[in-house]
Amino acid sequence: MHLIRRNRILRQSPAIRAMVAETILRPEHFIAPLFIIEGQGIEEEIPSMPQYYRRSVDLAVREVKELWALGIKCVLLFIKCKDELKDNKGTEALNPGGLMQRGIKAIKDACPDMCVMTDVALDPFSSYGHDGIVEDGEIVNDPTVDILALMSVSHAQAGADFVAPSDMMDNRVGVIRDALEMNGFTKTGIMSYSAKYASCFYGPFRDALDSAPGFGDKKTYQMDYANRSEAVKEVLMDVEEGADIVMVKPAMAYLDIIREVKNTVTIPVSAYHVSGEYAMIKAAAKMGWLNEEKAILESLTGIRRAGADLVATYFAKEAVKLIGA
Ligand code: PBG
Repeated sequence: MHLIRRNRILRQSPAIRAMVAETILRPEHFIAPLFIIEGQGIEEEIPSMPQYYRRSVDLAVREVKELWALGIKCVLLFIKCKDELKDNKGTEALNPGGLMQRGIKAIKDACPDMCVMTDVALDPFSSYGHDGIVEDGEIVNDPTVDILALMSVSHAQAGADFVAPSDMMDNRVGVIRDALEMNGFTKTGIMSYSAKYASCFYGPFRDALDSAPGFGDKKTYQMDYANRSEAVKEVLMDVEEGADIVMVKPAMAYLDIIREVKNTVTIPVSAYHVSGEYAMIKAAAKMGWLNEEKAILESLTGIRRAGADLVATYFAKEAVKLIGA
């Protein structure tokens, strides 16, 4: 045979494969989500998310320091609100002394260089478990957006570097940007969950925060997973409204969306490798059906290859250890 091209030449050794690898994983590509609870010295494992924990502020701070030492540059904070503080108005979400606000302060005090992002949505604070205010069985858009803007300012006041609205209300990015500007927070970023789908893969997360919707589902605000063009519409609007980073969520069943978005916008794209995606790998590995380490690296590389500049993932810490960066 006289072949002109032998594609296997570029695959023949680890050295050559590394030289021509098109996609790399680095610690700075990861966003590590953290679940914060009240109390002290508490670290409780989430049953549907093996080896992932809810932590009181003191231990969350310790974790953040560890993540920083590993080279991870960004955490995304979620809080589990006490039942008695939940209502239909987001009261606790705006409390300057609330768990989120205290968490932000403690983390920024202990690790000022870490980029701290915060979840902005009402579900952890809602007696209905919905991302917005409920009126007559409906999740109402505009009154919710007003509260999300106040919540964002409150997080910025506490020291958040980025707010991350995960609610999928219309026009919230623009209103949040306006509120930040009006309050002098000209350096606070917005990472918008722009194309967030109504997905069954959020199940374990809702266990973690006890935030499952009390009635109905989230299909009147989160996107229909049948749609792709609609994701383009959503991200373009968020870009116009002033988002600094747009996100696609979940990740693995939405790689086409990540690519579509990456080809559409000129700002960074993130993807959220969500709780159910974490749980699937953990469960299969526990059964001995998948090699966990390989599954983690292949999944995260695939998400980056699809076009995600940043990946929010519960595997952030493990992945950084695996890549030995
Ligand atoms: C809610 C929110 C959800 C997640 C992040 N923010 C769940 C939902 O929309 O019901 C899911 C994250 C995950 O599953 O890992 N605002």
